[in-house]
Amino acid sequence: MAEIRDKILWITGASSGIGRALVLRLADHNNFVIASGRRREALAELQQFAPTRIRILDCDVADDSATASTFERLKDLTDHLDGVIACAGTCEYDNDLQLETAMYRRVFDANFFGVVNTLRCALPLLAASTSPLFAALGSLSSVVPFPRAEAYGSSKAALDYFLASVRADTCHTDLKVVLVRPGFVDTPLTAQNDFAMPFLISAERAAEFIEEGLARGKSVIDFPLRLSLPLRFLGFFRSLWFRFCTTKISRIRTLRKS
Ligand SMILES: NC(=O)c1ccc[n+]([C@@H]2O[C@H](COP(=O)([O-])OP(=O)(O)OC[C@H]3O[C@@H](n4cnc5c(N)ncnc54)[C@H](OP(=O)(O)O)[C@@H]3O)[C@@H](O)[C@H]2O)c1
Repeated sequence: MAEIRDKILWITGASSGIGRALVLRLADHNNFVIASGRRREALAELQQFAPTRIRILDCDVADDSATASTFERLKDLTDHLDGVIACAGTCEYDNDLQLETAMYRRVFDANFFGVVNTLRCALPLLAASTSPLFAALGSLSSVVPFPRAEAYGSSKAALDYFLASVRADTCHTDLKVVLVRPGFVDTPLTAQNDFAMPFLISAERAAEFIEEGLARGKSVIDFPLRLSLPLRFLGFFRSLWFRFCTTKISRIRTLRKS
């Protein structure tokens, strides 16, 4: 299995789920990992697993005004970054098509603007590396339109485009831009789901897929294949998705009148 070794990495969303599993795995492979999240206690607990290879940097990636101070604190920890994996994110569903703007903004703040802020913060330190890498966690939910996922799915679709555009913009540089699209992973984020999650995998297995994909130089890392393959097929033939799938999973039967 391909591995990432001896790099200096920054991982956001490290206080739980996929980000946490990635920190543990990559620290175990002798990388120096800066782990971020808002919950300092959870990060401090994580650091105990490899105190010499894990440093913690608590920050709110959705807070645009904190980017400058996060950058200064990053610079105190390292003079360059070989890689960033932006895992920080959130999920809220729009039940019954309420279209509450505040909820949409919360989701976009973490999932989209959080990644923009992370890249802004990291770019000068990535520029100081000989083989810089920037990866962010999208989702297979942006491949086909799921009911109730208007906010979450569109924040991830916007992220797909953002990363592709950054990739186009930096094609004459050494920066490697990577989109990671997991299927269902067993984490606190999916614990709220009240529907069947086909091919659910553990956060540790997700971290394995991500490290393997990054080490192999992939630009898009979709997993697990058993879910990504049929979804990509249905994403291509979208009329089939609407005809055969959404009619089975949508819960709305009548439009709300007030
Ligand atoms: N689980 C899945 O099935 C799945 C599938 C597809 C994609 N994803 C994506 O994978 C990523 C990780 O998800 P997960 O399942 O591991 O979820 P999780 O266990 O809930 O972890 C989310 C992480 O993001 C951090 N976070 C959230 N908002 C933040 C903010 N404003 N600033 C800084 N950190 C913030 C949280 O830390 P604090 O609370 O400490 O800030 C936490 O560490 C997300 O982007 C998610 O959309 C997950």
